[in-house]
Amino acid sequence: MKISFSHLLALSLVLLIVWSVVSAPVPLQDNNRRSSGATIPIREVLTTIAAENDVVRTLYTKSIVGAGKKVGLEFDERWENQGVDAGPLPALFLSQASASLSKQGIGVELLLGSHMPITPTNAFKGDQITRFEKILESREPEFFTDSRTNLEMAMFPDIAGAQACVTCHNQHPGSPKTDWKLDDVMGATTWSYPHATVSAEEYLQIINAARIAFRDAYRSYLEKINTFKNKPEIGSKWPKDGFFVPDEATFMKAFEEQANSKTIYRLLKDQ
Ligand code: HEC
Repeated sequence: MKISFSHLLALSLVLLIVWSVVSAPVPLQDNNRRSSGATIPIREVLTTIAAENDVVRTLYTKSIVGAGKKVGLEFDERWENQGVDAGPLPALFLSQASASLSKQGIGVELLLGSHMPITPTNAFKGDQITRFEKILESREPEFFTDSRTNLEMAMFPDIAGAQACVTCHNQHPGSPKTDWKLDDVMGATTWSYPHATVSAEEYLQIINAARIAFRDAYRSYLEKINTFKNKPEIGSKWPKDGFFVPDEATFMKAFEEQANSKTIYRLLKDQ
């Protein structure tokens, strides 16, 4: 059966409402509870969008960057500069998504941080530092309220899953660490939100905002391609087929096919 995004939204809303009625916690005197409907712990929501972020990042890394390099497409950290005919590196694809999320103003912020960052602004701050030390040992996510900002935080380990991660970081002139190894925890995707719980509607709104952010990141790559001297054909084909790049609809459809099944599985598992 094929599930469209609107079906998923409808089904999820039903599931979420059932879930929040069934497992509504005993009311607490908690300033973070804004309305009686806001009963879904934010860690559930951030875990869902972090999983969707993994899907889009893997799709971009393997099917666009990995396959694209073989047919002559380039990816560079200076991709935004005029005259550099290149797309964003995966970490910079994520910064584009993060900027879009921020601009949408729904309260969710995203940072790919590290204890040994190439870019100093990606360094962890405050409680993130001690939490990341735990992640280095456990390789499990951490959820907490930041004592400095009072924001709800979720940090997910970012693992060197491919030799390219290790090689590029070790050789980068800005890297403070040059002995990264395969499977190392290189950093953490770090999400924040101002409230401890959300309503079902807010949950869906956040999933939707994250998907808009992924689309915007991909869109910025396509816009850059339009300025290339030697443009790949943008359409329904992928770099694995030759000098092609999927258009926005094709890319997002491939993303949604994987993300929908993961997300719906997560929602059902929580029942
Ligand atoms: C071709 C080079 C290259 C590859 C491949 C690469 N990175 Fe990076 N990575 C960078 C650059 C450059 C930055 C800094 C981007 C920025 O300014 O935010 C970065 C940023 C990061 C950060 C944020 C902290 C920092 O160093 O600024 C993490 C964590 C990270 N990469 C992990 C990974 C992982 C995991 C992989 C493999 C799945 C990977 N990288 C693959 C070049 C690369």
